Amino acid sequence: MWWKVIAEWVILIIQFGLAIFMFYMMAAFYTGAPLVLTRRKIIKKMLDEAGLKPGQLFIELGCAEGRVLRTAVKDYHVRGMGYEINFFLVWWGRIMAGLQHLKNIRFIVKNFWKADLSGADVIYAYLFPDTMQKLKVIFDKTGKKNLLVISRVFEIKGWENKLIKKIPEGDDWIYYYRK
Ligand SMILES: C[S@@+](CC[C@H](N)C(=O)[O-])C[C@H]1O[C@@H](n2cnc3c(N)ncnc32)[C@H](O)[C@@H]1O
Repeated sequence: MWWKVIAEWVILIIQFGLAIFMFYMMAAFYTGAPLVLTRRKIIKKMLDEAGLKPGQLFIELGCAEGRVLRTAVKDYHVRGMGYEINFFLVWWGRIMAGLQHLKNIRFIVKNFWKADLSGADVIYAYLFPDTMQKLKVIFDKTGKKNLLVISRVFEIKGWENKLIKKIPEGDDWIYYYRK
């Protein structure tokens, strides 16, 4: 029967999609951090505290479906650039950004270790602690003077003198560093 053939193909395509999605999830675990999304209430508070200025280049490392990036662009009028390794999340983010009629926002399917961060005014990341430590070396080398780095939950060791504030988030903290 023709509908059985179609059903088999649909199931096959879904399984294939899920397999690729799982592959990306595993890859993210090894290259930066797994997918854990920031809740909207936290996003608002975190961005309010950042003192963002219109036109600033806001880069998010591991932007997932762009909920933080989209809020920053929509409510604070920054230019948003998000790097994300997971192709599916990026497309979801692009669709959402389109539905929100957001301009000045770019989602890039790319490993952020290969990204050029030298133009960023603000960098936001919610990644593993050792990932933040390795990124610190890059921020030190190539980050702009006055670069603002926002690290959710994990502090950057060795940057104690650059910490301008930290705000509570439940049992955790959000850290703000000025280079
Ligand atoms: C903990 S989640 C944070 C999501 C989002 N930034 C937030 O705060 O809601 C980490 C994200 O980083 C992505 N990621 C991990 N390693 C990456 C890499 N090397 N390059 C690009 N994205 C990466 C993961 O796929 C995941 O979406």
